Amino acid sequence: MEKIIIFGVSQLASLAHFYFEHDSPHEVVAFTLDKEYITENEFRGLPVIAFDEIEGLYPPSQYKMFLPISFKQMNFLRKRKYEQAKQKGYQCVSYISSKATTWPDLDVGENCFIFEDNTIQPFVKIGNNCVLWSGNHIGHHTEIRDHVFITSQVVISGCCIIEENAFFGVNATIRDETTIGKGTLVGMGANITKDTPEYSIWIGAKSAMREDKSIDIDSISHKTKG
Ligand SMILES: CC(C)(COP(=O)(O)OP(=O)(O)OC[C@H]1O[C@@H](n2cnc3c(N)ncnc32)[C@H](O)[C@@H]1OP(=O)(O)O)[C@@H](O)C(=O)NCCC(=O)NCCS
Repeated sequence: MEKIIIFGVSQLASLAHFYFEHDSPHEVVAFTLDKEYITENEFRGLPVIAFDEIEGLYPPSQYKMFLPISFKQMNFLRKRKYEQAKQKGYQCVSYISSKATTWPDLDVGENCFIFEDNTIQPFVKIGNNCVLWSGNHIGHHTEIRDHVFITSQVVISGCCIIEENAFFGVNATIRDETTIGKGTLVGMGANITKDTPEYSIWIGAKSAMREDKSIDIDSISHKTKG
């Protein structure tokens, strides 16, 4: 059993602790956080240690790290903290839910957080420091580079290339053989049919409320009674 330290004391850190506790061979032994953000010395019954002192108490030769950090600053915050952990000499673990659908020879880097109900088809390659929230489809031969965040119910079709730091909102859909440029922000519900330029922003179609009609609740309740 490997002993690991989780970065952060956020909801995401709580989730990571929960998933590691219930669905992994790893044992979480401590949390770490930048000193200026520490308000309590304990989180979920474990010690909270300042990040700049962590390697003295929990040396990288004996402990690994997991940094579950959000998409803030287009994933650059997560990238920065991951690189700092690497500079300290830590190897980072990845969590892949036992409830995700995967196949042998899955190619996933370090510090990835892959939730339940992701379908990851054969020949997919996922880099380091990526988050795949629940329920995405990642089509065969797609390559996801480092520091990417995929929220939920996103369809990335086969043979796509997803460059570093891209973000995908819920229910986005990507056509097969598409390259999503570095730092692209794909909004919820967007349908991407062409390659995207670096740091571009995409939104989906808006729903429009019908101004001429609404549901006649009296007639519905009358019918169900009858
Ligand atoms: C693309 C996005 C980042 C834009 O955010 P924003 O700049 O704050 O945009 P606003 O909320 O101010 O909306 C601006 C306009 O664009 C529309 N809009 C925003 N996002 C849209 C989307 N994804 N699809 C269609 N229209 C959208 C809004 O309705 C609004 O229209 P209006 O000007 O007619 O009122 C955001 O809407 C989005 O899709 N975020 C991802 C959400 C998500 O997946 N959350 C799960 C995270 S765990």
